[in-house]
Amino acid sequence: MCGISGIVGFKNIAMPLLNSIRHLEYRGYDSCGVAIMSNNSIVVRKNIGSVDEVNEREKLSEPDGKIGIAHTRWATHGGVTKENTHPHLSCEGDFALVHNGIISNYSEIKKELIHGGHRFNSETDTEVIVHLIEKYFVLSKDAEKAFIRALKRLEGTYAIAMITTHEKDKIFCAKRESPLVIGLGDEINYLGSDFNAFIDYTKNAVVLDDDEYAVVSRDHYFIKKIISGEVIRKRITEINWDSDMAKKGGYPHYMLKEIYEQPQCIVNAMQVDKALIKKLSDMIMKSRHVYLIGAGTTYYVSLMSEYHFSSIAGVFTPAINSDEFKNLAYIDKDTLIIAVSQSGETYDTLNALKFAKGKGAKTAAIVNVMGSSIARLVDHTIMQGSGPEICVISTKAALSQMAILLLVALEMAVNNKRISVRNKNEIEKQISHLPELIQKVLNEKSGFIHTIANKFSHINNWLYLGRGKYYPIALESSLKMKEVAYVHAEGMPAGFLKHGTIALIDEKLYSVIFMPPRSDEELYRLTAGSAEEIKARKGFTLGFHFGEKGEGEKLFSEEIILPKAHSIIAPFLELVVAQLFAYFTAVALKRNIDKPRSLAKSVTVA
Ligand code: AGP
Repeated sequence: MCGISGIVGFKNIAMPLLNSIRHLEYRGYDSCGVAIMSNNSIVVRKNIGSVDEVNEREKLSEPDGKIGIAHTRWATHGGVTKENTHPHLSCEGDFALVHNGIISNYSEIKKELIHGGHRFNSETDTEVIVHLIEKYFVLSKDAEKAFIRALKRLEGTYAIAMITTHEKDKIFCAKRESPLVIGLGDEINYLGSDFNAFIDYTKNAVVLDDDEYAVVSRDHYFIKKIISGEVIRKRITEINWDSDMAKKGGYPHYMLKEIYEQPQCIVNAMQVDKALIKKLSDMIMKSRHVYLIGAGTTYYVSLMSEYHFSSIAGVFTPAINSDEFKNLAYIDKDTLIIAVSQSGETYDTLNALKFAKGKGAKTAAIVNVMGSSIARLVDHTIMQGSGPEICVISTKAALSQMAILLLVALEMAVNNKRISVRNKNEIEKQISHLPELIQKVLNEKSGFIHTIANKFSHINNWLYLGRGKYYPIALESSLKMKEVAYVHAEGMPAGFLKHGTIALIDEKLYSVIFMPPRSDEELYRLTAGSAEEIKARKGFTLGFHFGEKGEGEKLFSEEIILPKAHSIIAPFLELVVAQLFAYFTAVALKRNIDKPRSLAKSVTVA
């Protein structure tokens, strides 16, 4: 949702602090700011706009100081204005604070503080925290005590970083639900919402857990429980990313880079420890109720896995939107929740897991970020190893998650004696061809997909139609088009079209049809039937198919032909084509590809 960072060292930290929010900008980019201790007072520079735009105007790295905090904002409370931008200052300017999360009881605290004479400059929930700390400091004259006392008043979620003129060499920070990690350097320490904040400088990190606070100086830190004050000792996490992985590597956008990283991601997915795959399979087989949960893209990954688990393993595991989970799922101690999450921080998914754990359910997750809240919460974690996914639009992480859960389906199928080990090995051999086939699509089809995207970039409304396991692919593909190109696309089961939506078909409404290979005979026939229904009503169809050149001419208005593929991996290839189609459409429409409007990489609010 937002990105927070901090640095405390023995020399000027202004430039690395600016870099830290450049690396966190994908988490929110409505506005940004820094607070730096300079000549014994706190200098705040902030404004609305991207980091580079604000830096242009405010010279964020100009103040000379050895300690500072910074923030990139995705607005939740209060509009996108300079006043609402973090950091926020206390009345006397002796405290500065940044925050990621939502303080649910901020209104009552604000009233109390205003009554006590505090003057507010913003509409944000965050500003009440810094004034509350100021209020308690006046009483205790002890910054740590005031910090803790304020934290105990807060309801809701937070990752907070604060500096004060009363303890000029310390950053105070605390965490509840929103992520926060400490980066450990040599005579310099860092703070960030995730590793990207400081990955250029250190790979040694300590991850805070809920309801813990830390006081960080340049050569020392301690972590305590907020309520009890108990000192917590933590293992140092070595980050397995390098900064090059997190940079664009010559691509125009992270989205394209990450689409092109997919062959390697599938290789990594196939190399996930088989014991982890087997353990998840065993957990599923031992549970009476099993749900797959995710949000947005990861809900569609869950839906794809619902089809794989059912058709391959004969195990029906409903996929439920994390935000709807509480309204829908039956949970008892014989229930297993499998969460899918790239960031491992999505509020709705985290909340669903906590709700299920509270009812005695077992939990598991497929995640991409080490040390993330979901990874630390569940009973069993599979790290998908896709590398940092910087673009707000998820591509490689989603494809990798689908592949890993497909391996779980195969494991269960053997367990259920629906296939032999030999069959499983044969299917896995087919899956092992996926990286080279994705590479073939990227090498041989990108140019044509780019041409098609340019040709139809003026179209404002699309239907995305698929049957069976191509239905979740249609849904995920339509989400790509919406979120990166801002073009409306509605994904639906192809068979659903004739039950009403077909009334929309005319020359203005275009459709993408996700065709299975002919080896999926019935699915092919039925999906072709849907294309015919549209054609009969003079609707335009763009067919993704595995046939010969021209084969689609009878069926589609335009066609994108994919290389021949086994039916088990065909849907993955069609998703890659759809990712590129959305990407090139967004390029044609000059969208902000890696940071689309109103989006954030990790949605850590309800
Ligand atoms: C991805 O393209 C979307 N921006 C979004 O739907 C995302 O998948 C969703 O917010 C879940 O995020 P997570 O995987 O980090 O939990």
